[in-house]
Amino acid sequence: MFKIIDKKQLAQDTIKIVVGAPQIAKKAKAGQFVVVLIDEQSERIPLTLADWDIDNGTISLIFQKVGFTTEKLATLKIGDEIQHILGPLGHPTAVSKLGTVVCIGGGVGIAEVYPVSRAFKQAGNRIIAIIGSRSKDLLILEKEMKGICDELFVTTDDGSYGRKGLVTDVLKELLDVIEKSTHTKYPDLVYCIGPLAMMRAVSGLTKNYNIKTIVSLNPIMVDATGMCGACRCSVGGKTVFGCVDGPDFDGHEVDFEELGKRLRL
Ligand SMILES: Cc1cc2nc3c(=O)[nH]c(=O)nc-3n(C[C@H](O)[C@H](O)[C@H](O)COP(=O)(O)OP(=O)(O)OC[C@H]3O[C@@H](n4cnc5c(N)ncnc54)[C@H](O)[C@@H]3O)c2cc1C
Ligand code: FES
Repeated sequence: MFKIIDKKQLAQDTIKIVVGAPQIAKKAKAGQFVVVLIDEQSERIPLTLADWDIDNGTISLIFQKVGFTTEKLATLKIGDEIQHILGPLGHPTAVSKLGTVVCIGGGVGIAEVYPVSRAFKQAGNRIIAIIGSRSKDLLILEKEMKGICDELFVTTDDGSYGRKGLVTDVLKELLDVIEKSTHTKYPDLVYCIGPLAMMRAVSGLTKNYNIKTIVSLNPIMVDATGMCGACRCSVGGKTVFGCVDGPDFDGHEVDFEELGKRLRL
């Protein structure tokens, strides 16, 4: 059993829980996720490891209430217990010193891009982050991102906070400025987590500039151990399983059209 140590509402419909899970905390790496089973009657849902604390033996999960299981998880209180948490799962993000890394997070994806941005910063990179949400009341972790990034841009679709528009508008502007400049070079990597349409748009944009782009895919996952095939995606013309081969993949190689169809199914 995994006890909920702390619980906080971060934004409308977005909740953070801190859970006692010392074995997972000990092994966690940026980019990995866990599978949560609230109780015997629940469905298994994958959630990214938003943070972890080895000393306290805790992990942090940030989730948006979008359906039955996330609604049910949101009803748990401090002191309640989750029956099973399996993880850490998936390959950690490949982090190394590259130079400048642009980290992009959309919606609840900001919770997922936070530990990855931190890991790239700790590896000695310059971090430019672009985070976006539909409106101000849905924006999360701005302060935390500010604390680890060299530059931070915030966008909202409706203009209620930061710049009005999409994260891709800011990215395009940055890349256009670099294109005209004689002394600034293109980022060495773009890392992006968010809604499928956002990851597709970012990958389409960076392909024009030939900038390596990694996306963290979110296919439907059931067992998350490579056995059921629910999470299969096409990357570079090959079939891969999001859970055991990912969740990070080369955004220029992902068949977003197929993934979108599978998610809608
Ligand atoms: C590797 C990975 C990491 C994720 N990390 C986070 C996270 O940190 N925070 C967060 O809020 N969400 C995360 N998600 C999405 C999260 O798993 C779904 O929101 C959740 O499963 C929805 O379940 P539900 O019963 O509440 O909603 P449902 O009504 O069942 O579904 C709502 C939507 O959620 C998605 N979904 C449903 N079941 C699954 C499933 N088993 N696997 C994947 N997607 C599903 C579908 O797009 C569906 O349309 C992640 C997904 C993946 C694959
Ligand atoms: S979730 Fe079953 S193979 Fe990936």
